[in-house]
Amino acid sequence: MNKDDHELLAPTTRGTPMGELLRRFWTPALLSREVEADGAPVRVRLMGEDLIAFRDSKGRVGLLDEHCAHRGASLYFGKNTDCGLRCWYHGWKYDVDGNCLDQPNEPPQTQFKDRVKQTAYPCIERNGAVWAYLGPRETMPPLHDLEWTTLPPSHVHVAKRIQQCHWTQGLEGDIDSSHLGFLHSHATPLAVSPTAGVPTRTGSFDNTPRFELMTSRSGIVQASVRDAGPNEDYWRVGQWFMPGFTTIPPRGGDAPLHGHSWTAMEDGKSVVFTFSWHPARPLRDDEIERMETATNFHVHLIPGTFDPRANRANDYAPDSPPAAQPWMRVKYFQDQDIGATESMGALYDRTQENLGNTDLVIVRVRKRLVDAARDLQRGIEPAGREPQDYRLRPVSMMLPKKINSWSEAVAEPMDARPGTYREGI
Ligand code: FES
Ligand SMILES: [Fe+2]
Repeated sequence: MNKDDHELLAPTTRGTPMGELLRRFWTPALLSREVEADGAPVRVRLMGEDLIAFRDSKGRVGLLDEHCAHRGASLYFGKNTDCGLRCWYHGWKYDVDGNCLDQPNEPPQTQFKDRVKQTAYPCIERNGAVWAYLGPRETMPPLHDLEWTTLPPSHVHVAKRIQQCHWTQGLEGDIDSSHLGFLHSHATPLAVSPTAGVPTRTGSFDNTPRFELMTSRSGIVQASVRDAGPNEDYWRVGQWFMPGFTTIPPRGGDAPLHGHSWTAMEDGKSVVFTFSWHPARPLRDDEIERMETATNFHVHLIPGTFDPRANRANDYAPDSPPAAQPWMRVKYFQDQDIGATESMGALYDRTQENLGNTDLVIVRVRKRLVDAARDLQRGIEPAGREPQDYRLRPVSMMLPKKINSWSEAVAEPMDARPGTYREGI
């Protein structure tokens, strides 16, 4: 990457080109269960902003600037009661929209609460996650129709964790198919890894798939194509959606689908939401239990935190016995992904890379982000913010070797309209 592009892609704070672009999109901010009505406020850090989330007496979630509009005391210590958060310093009280409801330390004749506004960001709650919009109100789009936001709550599971690196480093791990046969094949047996060396219907393995890309309004669709006998190929198709959403091609059968959302907490630290959903039925108890207790795609956390137990301090292997080499200890594939993308450092200098053909999708995603940020600087709002632009689901399917247009062949199964789900292969 050239220096200009790298320096444009990296910063996410307000006022930077990428920071402004990212603020044009709704982002998951916290889990619904983190805040209870009239319960303790929680700290939320997004794109370098320190915020406080709370759920008021009516169940509405507010996301306020941490520092009180009076003289800046932290609202983390605020008293959440009677439909508002009251600053513990002088008692000013704010509702979920940032309106100042009370200035009890001012005499009634000099109160000016109507002229005070605490910065507050709009929130929408869907299926276990609270989404926030940090951009200008006049350009606020409706929430994207990502499939996991449109289904009944029973069909969706969401988990959250923190990753110690730039949000694009983590995101690029999701879309970088060429690492599968390397990073994930050594410790995870191919037959049980959901992504590496996926067996085709014919029972054969093809670990040298070819990759196909196509541009969609909301992002990029990526397919990996494996030989599955004389007449057919096995297609695994996933999406990247602007700016930080990925879906993972499914295992097939009746298994739930999975996707990630990547958001900068600050430039070298990300919050990751893992969404799992079944388009056609409620998730089963055993599936939810696996998502909450197993380590592989999901991650064990240090109790009381969103930090993974497997982390840099323990070389991503808290429970593994000693091994001949460090990499041999990292057993689970999500820990391998976290380890690889964190091992680059919190914010890798992209001018130092040597990109090859297999990095094409990463180049395209970066270019799309950088171009959109530059356009926005020129006053052109980003495309792909219409809710329907996000109505795509990942698929796995067999296709004849001879097809005229793969984009046409996958269009219908990929279309995430309600009631249209067909099991993958
Ligand atoms: S600083 Fe919050 S009320 Fe004074
Ligand atoms: Fe991976």
